[in-house]
Amino acid sequence: MAVLRFVREFSAAKSAHEEPAPASDVAIAPVVMPRDRAAVICLAEEARGGTVSFASKGLLAELESRDGREVSAWLAWRSATLGPRPVGIVMVAETESGLSIPWLLVDPDVRRQGVARTLVTTAVRHARSIGAPRITADTLDSWVESRAFWPAAEFTLVGTIDSE
Ligand SMILES: CC(C)(COP(=O)(O)OP(=O)(O)OC[C@H]1O[C@@H](n2cnc3c(N)ncnc32)[C@H](O)[C@@H]1OP(=O)(O)O)[C@@H](O)C(=O)NCCC(=O)NCCS
Repeated sequence: MAVLRFVREFSAAKSAHEEPAPASDVAIAPVVMPRDRAAVICLAEEARGGTVSFASKGLLAELESRDGREVSAWLAWRSATLGPRPVGIVMVAETESGLSIPWLLVDPDVRRQGVARTLVTTAVRHARSIGAPRITADTLDSWVESRAFWPAAEFTLVGTIDSE
């Protein structure tokens, strides 16, 4: 199984605030645990049955920072009749090897509406604001949506990395 690595390099001349905000009707908010635990589980459940299956346990485990791995995350919320509902999540992990996006997930019901683009813009702004020179994202070769998404978000395919 091939894992593809995409990278977005940042130009030192451009500041985080110059990152254009994509048009989208979602509100982006930092994930605060345990407050947002139910929202993350709800999102993972909504995403079940899509082309890629996500277990809420895995998603929750990835949100936890540990020694040598600091995780920041944001949820995308959209207004709904019963109140705001979570429609997407992005995580940024900071380790000694740099910044990466270990998870990006959008509810299958609202895909192709710019939600991931908005979430990744937030992740990129964060990376720039802490002075990172680049951010990476890995995806399985078989994840068709993901392979199409990263180049659209100005990430460049740099190669294939080791996988089990
Ligand atoms: C990949 C994923 C996050 C994209 O979310 P999204 O909200 O639908 O993406 P956006 O609407 O912001 O798409 C931005 C651009 O990416 C490209 N793109 C996204 N999904 C695509 C698809 N299924 N086919 C072709 N291009 C696609 C398009 O260029 C799109 O712009 P356009 O709609 O104006 O043509 C979503 O499909 C998903 O959650 N997939 C399962 C999990 C996953 O693969 N995560 C990423 C790896 S961790």
